[in-house]
Amino acid sequence: MSWPWRALAGLWLLAAAKNHKLELTENKGYAAGQSGEYFRYKHLFHKKPTEEDFEHAQQLADEVRCDVCARILESLLGRARSFSEDDDIADVLEGNVEYEKTGDQVEDQMLKHKKGCNKHFKDEVVLEGYMVRMCKEVAPEVKNDTSPCLWRNPEKPSRQSADTYEVWKEGVFYACEQSIAHHSDALAETLAGTPAEANLTQVALEACRNTARCAARRKERAPEAGVKAPGAGSKKPAKGKKPAKGKGSRPEL
Ligand SMILES: *[C@@H]1O[C@H](CO)[C@@H](O)[C@H](O)[C@H]1NC(C)=O
Ligand SMILES: *[C@@H]1O[C@H](CO)[C@@H](O)[C@H](O)[C@H]1NC(C)=O
Repeated sequence: MSWPWRALAGLWLLAAAKNHKLELTENKGYAAGQSGEYFRYKHLFHKKPTEEDFEHAQQLADEVRCDVCARILESLLGRARSFSEDDDIADVLEGNVEYEKTGDQVEDQMLKHKKGCNKHFKDEVVLEGYMVRMCKEVAPEVKNDTSPCLWRNPEKPSRQSADTYEVWKEGVFYACEQSIAHHSDALAETLAGTPAEANLTQVALEACRNTARCAARRKERAPEAGVKAPGAGSKKPAKGKKPAKGKGSRPEL
């Protein structure tokens, strides 16, 4: 595969190694303002996530978007009160759950934002033991190369580990944003009326492909997802050229 994946593989290893000596850097998070990473996690590395990290997460999202979408959607459908009302489906897609304040500033900040894909990527994917690994290590029969595959570790992670920033988790988050969050109305509408006895794995897979357009590549989705400024080729997108709004756009660091 192309070089970014090799670089990425190295990055994962580095991240794994660094996991052993994490430190809380919550104050930095507040200082940095509203950046998503700072309320998706409690534990961040000393180093601020960089534009390259963001770019890697986007590349990952591109590769695992359909798997992430299908996994999350299947799980959410299993939680819907009914399939007869699109409101019931919209509710689970929205994932807007009340949380009790813990009194811990960092924790409460995270919980306050824990809705939609900020919630789904963690509850349905990370905490269930799923992780992104090189395909050749975990699913060589599917893809025998260094590209990323969503893989379920039989061992579930600890809370601490789930709340720790890693680039692949951001990839999962963006994969969810770009599929489920950006197409939630259409998904709720399409999925209303799903027969109760339907195979939800199959239903989720099809809805992700057909309605959430999970297989569309980044260039095709760019205007909507706000992923990267046009004029590509340059490594760093020019500041101020990025669309300011849109759920998938880069929050300023
Ligand atoms: C994957 O590739 C490696 C090295 O090329 C090879 O040894 C291995 O048998 C392959 N595995 C599968 C399942 O194709
Ligand atoms: C449900 O659909 C999935 C995906 O197509 C398939 O692998 C699985 O065997 C199906 N399960 C049942 C019980 O039919």
